[in-house]
Order: sequence, then C-alpha cells, then structure tokens
Amino acid sequence: MYSLLSLSILAILVRRAAAQAQVPVFGQCGGLTYNGSTTCVSGPQCSLSDARFSVFSQCVPGTAPPPFAGPINFWFPFGDSYTSTTFDPTSVLPNIHNPLGNPPFPGFTGGGGENYVGYDTATFNASVVFTYNYAFGGATINASLVAPFEPTVLSLIDQVNEFLSGGVASKPATTPWTSANALFSVWIGVNDLAGSYFEPGDRGAFADVLLDEYFALMQKLVAVGARNFLFLNVPRVDLTPLVISSGGAAQAQLKSVISDFNTRLASRVSAFKATNAGVTTWVWDSNTVFTTILSAPTQFGFVDAVSFGNTGDFWGNNFHPGPAAHEIFAKDISALMVGSLWF
Ligand SMILES: *[C@@H]1O[C@H](CO)[C@@H](O)[C@H](O)[C@H]1NC(C)=O
Ligand SMILES: *[C@@H]1O[C@H](CO)[C@@H](O)[C@H](O)[C@H]1NC(C)=O
Ligand SMILES: *[C@@H]1O[C@H](CO)[C@@H](O)[C@H](O)[C@H]1NC(C)=O
Repeated sequence: MYSLLSLSILAILVRRAAAQAQVPVFGQCGGLTYNGSTTCVSGPQCSLSDARFSVFSQCVPGTAPPPFAGPINFWFPFGDSYTSTTFDPTSVLPNIHNPLGNPPFPGFTGGGGENYVGYDTATFNASVVFTYNYAFGGATINASLVAPFEPTVLSLIDQVNEFLSGGVASKPATTPWTSANALFSVWIGVNDLAGSYFEPGDRGAFADVLLDEYFALMQKLVAVGARNFLFLNVPRVDLTPLVISSGGAAQAQLKSVISDFNTRLASRVSAFKATNAGVTTWVWDSNTVFTTILSAPTQFGFVDAVSFGNTGDFWGNNFHPGPAAHEIFAKDISALMVGSLWF
C-alpha cells in the first residue's frame, strides 16, 4: 500500500512538473514567430485563433466564453490600424480572462504594444467592458472609392457587414448587448485621405461622398439597436514621419484636406443625432490632441515630435503613434465620456 501510494504521489508530482510546460486557457500556443510550448492544459485545444493572419494560436476551451456573473457592457469599435488589435470575430470572443477576446491581450497594433482600445477596455474602463474590435489595418471607408494597400483589407463597409451578418447583431446569448449597454465607435479616414488628398478634383465634394457612405453605415447600426456612438475625427497624419518625408507642400495640402473633412464630419454627427431620436453621440477631437502633444512633446514626456520606434517617442513607427501616445488618447477619451457606462 505504502509503495503504491508513494508511486501515485510521484505520478502526481511528475504530472505537475509536466504541466508547467503547458499553456493555460487563452494563453498563446503557436504562431509564426512563437517558440514556446504548444501543449495546452488538459481540456482546451490549441487552435488557430486568427486564420486571416496565421500569426498566433491560442488555447481555447470551446466556443462559449467562460461565464461571468457581473454586469458587462459592450464596445464595438470600427476603423483602421490606429484602432485594430487584429481581433478575429470568428474565434474566441471577449471574456473575463481577455476582454478583447483574441489574440492574447493587448493584440497586435499598428504602432506596436497596447493601443487606446486596450487601455480604454482594461485600464480607464468604468465597468467590465467586453470589446469586439472589428477595425482592420489599412481600412478605407469603401475600397472602391479609395483602394487599400492590399485587396484583402476589410473596409468600413466590410467591418459593419461583419458585425451585422456575423451573428453578433442579433444579440446572441454569447453577446447580450442592448441599446443601453453597447457603445459603437468609428475612427476612420486616415487611409482615405492619405490615399486621395493629392488627387485632382473637388476634395470637399469627395469628402461628402465618403461621409454619405460612412453615415449610411451608421444608420444600419441604428436599425439593429445601436444608440451610443463615439466618433473619432481624422488625426494629424500630415505630422507623421512618413508624410514629413514627402515635404512641406504635401504636408500642408494633406493638413488642409483633413481639416475640411473633420468640419464636414462634425456637421454629419450633429445631423445624425438630430435625425435619430434616442441616439447619444460623442466626438473625440483626435486632430486637436495630436496638435497639442506634437507642438509641445516634452511636456507630455516625449523626446520630440518626429522620432519613432523607441521608448520615449510619440511615434511607434513612421505612420502610427506608439503605446505611450495611445495611453494619453485613451485617458482623454475616458475624460470625454466620464459618467458613461464604459469609461
Ligand atoms: C525561435 O527559435 C529560432 C531557432 O532557435 C530562432 O532563430 C528565432 O529567433 C526564435 N524566435 C523567437 C521569436 O524567439
Ligand atoms: C476594467 O477591466 C478589467 C479587465 O476586464 C477588469 O478586471 C476591471 O474590473 C474593470 N474595472 C472596473 C472598474 O470595472
Ligand atoms: C462603394 O463605392 C462604389 C464606387 O463608387 C459604389 O458603386 C458602391 O455602391 C459603394 N458601396 C457602398 C456600399 O456604398
């Protein structure tokens, strides 16, 4: 008996030791640049969590997220690489272990590290917020109007359709959103304007074409119950290191096209609110925030307005703000929306 007992204790100890190399639920277990353990703890399977990119795999317990008893609020962001965390809505949904669902928090972002979606979801949040981030790197509003850098990019049209027809819009048991507890946000226009400002023709008229389609999509969201909308205007793309390298004339032209677009966006938001009873809107003026920080970068803890890629830089790379900038954005968004359910 004694020796059998010792043996079974030994077996448990051996199993424990082996278990240390096992990946926990929602941990990463594979991916292109991943070198760690590929064995999940017993139960979950290592599954390819983002089939569109094949960049990582995650240990998943099954399709349903683990239960959580407390009140949950929902956030559905749409946009481009300034917002994307490479969430795949067909994989692990937001849950109490990772309020962004997949990939492992804070996801993969345009500027590297955590972006404002991560910070607002899990640091500046006023409640538990489950965030389904439909934003897609490189997105334009309509790929037929401004072509994205590659044809596989999901436009704002594609993203809204993914929400509307992917199963979430019908408020399934996995995602019990309501008109009251769900926030919809859009930060789009960077690629539309950077990809078209130099074209001939009336840029203001083109902005109206883009905005007609943008707000037709918002109307589709209202039709399925969306009532709370956060709009983020187009930031100072003219101050990115990439556009600076194109020269002062290009910068000035892009700055002016962005400013005109934002004026029109503000009118559209007012009209949208006025024609949709029960709709609440917020506008985060990213353009002014970029101007404020980049005209006095050291006051915000950055080395200067143009360096990129290192700790202390505003820019994560030559076209995207890095995590320290995103943390400031997220805090400012939470200040704008203070008193709301989400932040
Ligand atoms: C994974 O291992 C290979 C071979 O040892 C190495 O060349 C590579 O840099 C490693 N990748 C990472 C992300 O550590
Ligand atoms: C903010 O989100 C985190 C991650 O989901 C959660 O642990 C925390 O409780 C939330 N904060 C509040 C005030 O609910
Ligand atoms: C996108 O733009 C094309 C070209 O102008 C247009 O034919 C199409 O209707 C637009 N799509 C939507 C959904 O607005």
